[in-house]
Amino acid sequence: MTRPELLMVGPLADAVTAEIEKDFTVHRYFAADDKEALLSEIGERVRFVATGGHHGCSAKIIEALPKLEIISSFGVGYDAVDVEAAKRAGVHVTNTPDVLNDCVAEMTVGLMIALAHRLPQTDRYVREGRWPGGDFPLTDELRGARAGILGLGRIGKEIARRLQVFKMEVVYHGRHKQAHEPYPYFADLTEMAKACDWLVVIAPGSKETQGIVSRGVMEALGPEGMLVNMARGSLVDEPAMIELLQSGGLGGAALDVFADEPNVPDELKALDNVVLSPHQGSATHKTRAAMGQMVVDNLRAHLKGEPLLSPVA
Ligand code: 8YV
Repeated sequence: MTRPELLMVGPLADAVTAEIEKDFTVHRYFAADDKEALLSEIGERVRFVATGGHHGCSAKIIEALPKLEIISSFGVGYDAVDVEAAKRAGVHVTNTPDVLNDCVAEMTVGLMIALAHRLPQTDRYVREGRWPGGDFPLTDELRGARAGILGLGRIGKEIARRLQVFKMEVVYHGRHKQAHEPYPYFADLTEMAKACDWLVVIAPGSKETQGIVSRGVMEALGPEGMLVNMARGSLVDEPAMIELLQSGGLGGAALDVFADEPNVPDELKALDNVVLSPHQGSATHKTRAAMGQMVVDNLRAHLKGEPLLSPVA
C-alpha cells in the first residue's frame, strides 16, 4: 500500500521525523530550493502537514494543498499557523499542550532566580578569578515579592504553584477571572503591573495579545520591577523595553523570547540587568520527546479515523 503523503513545513527532530516516516512519505518544504515547484508537484496529493516553531503553516501553503486534512504542529503555541485559513479550508489543526507545562514553569523560575541572584554574573565572577579581590555585591531574592502572572493558563498555573513555594505572593491578569483559582485577579494589566515586583508573561501570542506589555505597563512595573517573558516576543513592546532597561525606568528582565528570533538586539546583550535565553522554555530531551510524540500521535489518530488528541481547530 502506498503511504499517504505529508508535507513537513518546518523541520522536526530526527527521531520525530523517523517516526513519521514509518507511516507517511515525507516531503521537506523547508529544505526545498524551489518551494513553488514542490507545492505544484505534490500539492494535489498532500493530505497531511507536520510543522513547528516559527515555520508554522501559512494561508498560501494551505491554499496550495486542496486535499489537506490536518496540520499537526509542534509546540503549544500555534500563532505561526494560519488557523483562520485552516478553518476556512476545513483543515484540522493540532498542537502539543500539557506535556511541556512543568518544563516551562521550571525554566521560568530558573530565569527568575538567575535574574534576582545575578547567577550569570556570579558565575563569571568566579571564572574570571575576581573573588579573591573581594566578595560579590549583595543581590536580590524572590521571597516576599509579589509576582503578577499575565496568562493564568495551564503553564501559568504551574508557575504560580512554584512561585508560592518560593514564598512569593501571586496575583494574575487574563481575559477572565477564574472563580476557582485562589490568587487575586486584576482586571487591568497596568494596575497589576503597578502593584507587582515581577511581571511574568505567559499568555499566547495572537492579534489580541500583540504589544499588550506596552511602555505604559512597563513604566507601571517601574524602576524596581522585573519583567519575565516566556511567551512570545510579540507580546512586549521590545524597543520601549530596551529604552526603559537602559534608562532605569524598568529594573530588569529575564527573556526567553524575542521579537525577531534568533536575532537579539545588541542593546539587550549589552545590558547587565537582563538574563537572556534562546527560547529554551520546553527545550529538554524529556519534554521535546513528549511533544514530538504528540505530533506523531495526532497524525496517526487522524490516519486511523480516531479522535485527535489535541485539536485547536
Ligand atoms: C517551542 C514553544 O520552542 O510550545 C511552544 O509554543 O514556544 C516552544 O515549546 C516552539 O514551538 C519551537 O519549536
